[in-house]
Amino acid sequence: MAAPARRLFLKYLGAGLTGVAASGLGPIVQARGATPFGGPPSGLPFTPIEPSLADALVLPPEFQSQIVALWGDRLPGTNARFGYNADFTAFLPLPSKDDEGLLWVNHEYVSIPDDETGEFGVYPQTFPLVMGRSPTIDDEMADIGASVLHIRRDGSGRWQVIASPLTRRYDVNSPMSASGPALQRVRGITGTLANCSGCVTPWRTVLTCEENYQDYVPDEVDTSGRGSTGGRFERNSAHYGWVVECDPHDPSFVPVKHTMLGRFRHENVALRASRGAAVVAYMGDDRTNGHVYKFVSDSRYAGPDAPHRGTLLSRGRLYAALFHANGRGEWVELAPDTRLRPNPESKFPEIPKGSTTLGDVYADLGAIVSDGFRAANLVGATPTGRPEDVEVHPFDGSIYIAFTAHATAPATMFSNTFGQIWRLVDTDQGTGSRFTWMRWMAGGPNDPAQAGHVFAAPDNLSFDRAGNMWIVSDIRSSYLNGDARYTAFMNNGMFFVPTSGADAGRAFQFASGPCESELTGPSWTPDEATLFLSVQHPGSAHGMRTRGTPAPHGSNWPNGRLDAPPRPGVVAIRRRSG
Ligand code: FEO
Ligand code: CA
Ligand code: CA
Repeated sequence: MAAPARRLFLKYLGAGLTGVAASGLGPIVQARGATPFGGPPSGLPFTPIEPSLADALVLPPEFQSQIVALWGDRLPGTNARFGYNADFTAFLPLPSKDDEGLLWVNHEYVSIPDDETGEFGVYPQTFPLVMGRSPTIDDEMADIGASVLHIRRDGSGRWQVIASPLTRRYDVNSPMSASGPALQRVRGITGTLANCSGCVTPWRTVLTCEENYQDYVPDEVDTSGRGSTGGRFERNSAHYGWVVECDPHDPSFVPVKHTMLGRFRHENVALRASRGAAVVAYMGDDRTNGHVYKFVSDSRYAGPDAPHRGTLLSRGRLYAALFHANGRGEWVELAPDTRLRPNPESKFPEIPKGSTTLGDVYADLGAIVSDGFRAANLVGATPTGRPEDVEVHPFDGSIYIAFTAHATAPATMFSNTFGQIWRLVDTDQGTGSRFTWMRWMAGGPNDPAQAGHVFAAPDNLSFDRAGNMWIVSDIRSSYLNGDARYTAFMNNGMFFVPTSGADAGRAFQFASGPCESELTGPSWTPDEATLFLSVQHPGSAHGMRTRGTPAPHGSNWPNGRLDAPPRPGVVAIRRRSG
């Protein structure tokens, strides 16, 4: 581990170094190849910026951004509009076309008032200004899900959405199907919602993750896996909270909810696939004291052109992580014959007298995977500090997990309120039952070791081709410029962290988001000349900026004019020419 990262680690996290040394995780692999945006092979590919309170997307001076789509934009050639609160993005190039592809964009939620999270309710405030009428519940359902944008780069380097049979929407009313042990007797599943992060599979489909479904449907299922109908959208709870496979290239493909990957608040999924081996999916349940999971497929990956679409992830085994304080860990299978070992967070469901296994509590495997969080508590999985993004390093297959906040479980290993990033090394190409872990990086306030560059609440992670890490932060909007613990960070941003060399483990700020926004879903074109980035929930804590809500509260992004409605959207970022 390089010296700066070690200093940060010691400063914010204290215990655990012995575990790292004992675990034999080894050094982080050396970066190699060109850095993104056509940067030099080594060194920083940009001039770092300072934290900012500007109601703007602030970038290094040598970069420019353009808007690709904003909430409410009519999608060319359709009657549908671009949804609200863009999150995960993925660019899928079209064969034989350098300047054309499909941009997948998740739409996570609509910003309605919420006292618990400090949401002002900027969606109902601004909807009439953007749409010319008041929003209905059908509008909310239409503004969540995902967009597929057929985009083309013009001669000036700008990306434009074009009319095409491929430009379209998925929302809460789109037809869906299910695979795996749950939902097998359910007909007519409709819609996907709360779509946070995701990934592109090696066979060129997209996995989109249903995260905070409890905002729209009831949270729980019973020990038979049965849900109940209700919530804001009057839908069945058991139908949501899954990983959903979609095919951006084929509008006729009915998306599949892969129930063997479990039902919980899926932030994201990251795949590890080698030809001839089982596919491993790593996942986090983003809730306080939520768990880390992995799925191991029964079938083996046979290459990008094999008929894996909708099938490879349908059968396999689901595990939850148990982290030991000594830097080692084990994967505990969520299966009927796994022995009960309830952790202190395990309050529900009640354990019938005489029960010794998960199968004594739940009716069958389908019920176990439908109740992923509580089933994991019953077998002793470790409660963690809100696992957000999980990513697999492109060089060595190690797994990085962004824990965005602290946990509240007794004697927790997740006490840093500013969040932290862990690195796991799994065994047997990811199929083993043991792993080792280390705390790789900690969020924290301004510190000389960071040369003034700071971050907190890590959320999405992305690796570039050179192996460097890019982090976006998600400090809660009500804390931004309002809670003394977080004032040093100013607005949420995007950070670059070299993984080797003298600056390994240091965070250099690349972007600062508009006020009360979060930058989400960074993804690259294959040549890494363009970075796509979502600007989510500008103005979410105080709404539209007016004379009554002066800076730094509220937002008017991207218009910038006082009293203009803030609109979430997606931008493309590239180096200025010349
Ligand atoms: Fe949707 Fe956990 O962020
Ligand atoms: Ca997220
Ligand atoms: Ca988040």
